[in-house]
Amino acid sequence: MIEACIFDLDGVITDTAEYHYQGWKRMADEAGLKFNREINEQLRGVSRRQSLNIILQYNKRELAEKKIEELMKKKNDYYKQSLESITEKDYLPGIKAFILNIRKKGIKTAIASASKNAEKVIQNLNAKELFDVIADGYSVKKTKPAPDLFLFAAERLNVNPSESVVFEDAQVGIEAALNGGFFSVGIGPDERVGQAHLRYDRTEDIQLEDVLALNR
Ligand code: BG6
Ligand code: MG
Repeated sequence: MIEACIFDLDGVITDTAEYHYQGWKRMADEAGLKFNREINEQLRGVSRRQSLNIILQYNKRELAEKKIEELMKKKNDYYKQSLESITEKDYLPGIKAFILNIRKKGIKTAIASASKNAEKVIQNLNAKELFDVIADGYSVKKTKPAPDLFLFAAERLNVNPSESVVFEDAQVGIEAALNGGFFSVGIGPDERVGQAHLRYDRTEDIQLEDVLALNR
């Protein structure tokens, strides 16, 4: 029996992955740093600090701590501006119905997001009552691909990884799930989340029967 489903937030529940990209792009343009959608793929699921490190490495730039803090704040301010436009209409297709469906079957649900803005996103989506547990960028120290965030959520839900499924759109997220002994569902292309137990191109393609059959 699958006892719990643990969902990443950005790019799985709502399309905030695009807002993260736009925030980094605007910051990078203003700071004279090269940045494009290809490098952005490496930032999916990765912490704010680590994301900036990847951008700086790509640009072969080293910056003082104060400047790093300043650029992270800039990006986050732009990102937070985008979040203001999020409403209950902004779930990715099919995902809310899927969550309501599994909850009706008695399956527990959690959010496990690396973001420190997760609370705000969930509030704007009016999604709080869809989840038994919310784990975010403040919950654990070690970020994905370490399994810590998913293990934290599973512990709070009082379930074992081997009876839980993680839903992720990021390569590091799938790695984190596998490192923790969870079943995993990847949302996105094969080259990104192909390591997952199940993979779908889009949230609307997720098949409940396949998910429930994962540990049979
Ligand atoms: C993840 C996103 O969910 O959260 C990353 O996929 C983001 O792109 C990370 O960098 C941290 O988010 P925040 O809101 O704390 O900067
Ligand atoms: Mg994500």
